[in-house]
Amino acid sequence: MSETGNPPILEVDNLARHFPVRGFLNRKVGSLRALDDVSFAVEPGEILGIVGESGCGKSTLGKTLMGIHEPSEGEVRMLGERIASPGQKRAPKIRARLQYVYQDPGASLDPRWTLRRSLHEPLIIHTDWSREKREEKVREIVKAVGLPVEHLDLYPHEISGGQQRRVGLARILVLGPELVIFDEPTSGLDVSVQATVLRLFRDLKSEFDLTYLFISHDLAVVQSICDRVIVMYLGRIVEIGKTADVFAAPRHPYTQALLSAAPRIGGPRVTENFSLQGEPPDPSNVPSGCRFRTRCQYAISDCAEIDPHLDDQDGHGVACLRWRELSA
Ligand SMILES: Nc1ncnc2c1ncn2[C@@H]1O[C@H](COP(=O)(O)OP(=O)(O)OP(=O)(O)O)[C@@H](O)[C@H]1O
Ligand SMILES: [Mg+2]
Repeated sequence: MSETGNPPILEVDNLARHFPVRGFLNRKVGSLRALDDVSFAVEPGEILGIVGESGCGKSTLGKTLMGIHEPSEGEVRMLGERIASPGQKRAPKIRARLQYVYQDPGASLDPRWTLRRSLHEPLIIHTDWSREKREEKVREIVKAVGLPVEHLDLYPHEISGGQQRRVGLARILVLGPELVIFDEPTSGLDVSVQATVLRLFRDLKSEFDLTYLFISHDLAVVQSICDRVIVMYLGRIVEIGKTADVFAAPRHPYTQALLSAAPRIGGPRVTENFSLQGEPPDPSNVPSGCRFRTRCQYAISDCAEIDPHLDDQDGHGVACLRWRELSA
């Protein structure tokens, strides 16, 4: 149960997604662990951020929650009902209440279709509404996302990147979702447009009573908009907590390095000893023990032996053997 006494809107238990690695003659020679043993819950009405370097599994997490990828292990429940697990073929109806906004909004709009057609399409698929009823809904949502209804006759290439985001969002809002997963919703937008789009997200959230999962590598954006944040490294959650707590006092050496490398609102300045060097290891060949140890300046021999689990203290979880000792 959450602080509000309501059940979590989404529960994720030991979720994993492995992709086969193929070699000569397309034989499976290994597996790429894009997501491993990921557990968390999303509370109704919150904005939960997901951060981490490129390739750490953020989009894979979003797509596995959505059922675009089948989980290799674990399960996902929405309002108590199982919506994804290994081998689960049929999506229960409740899954329509979870929607995903793709990393590239332009790519999710058909270039040959007018915006009107793109916006009617999800309603044609998911409802049996009349054309008039659909058009009414489409107009309502288009106005809500701040686009003039005259734009409905335009094609995607005739509108700006910021407007494409609005259309991408409108496309899912017509379906009346409760939980929206945004994948890098502000990437590729210039700063002033970013600010407008973020304000729009906030307004729509209260107008439509939404809960957000917000995937982004932009820490300043996450800090400004998210209530809680999950930090991922090589397919794992290494830290989770209230955004204010994590940003003020990061517990995991990876989070410390990540935060010190990026400009933040009111954050302490970069300290020399916390720098993130090199690239993350190959996810098809993850290090033993702690996955971060090969880049961690605090790693000791135990870190190669023991795979640290998330140690949760007052809602602030960290997966590091040494975090208590290091923060003392
Ligand atoms: N369909 C797929 N088949 C095989 N491997 C994949 C597939 N999708 C993702 N991967 C691999 O899984 C790992 C995680 O990728 P993912 O796209 O989830 O990362 P990300 O955190 O979203 O990165 P970015 O910040 O660049 O968007 C990467 O090593 C990627 O190459
Ligand atoms: Mg991604």
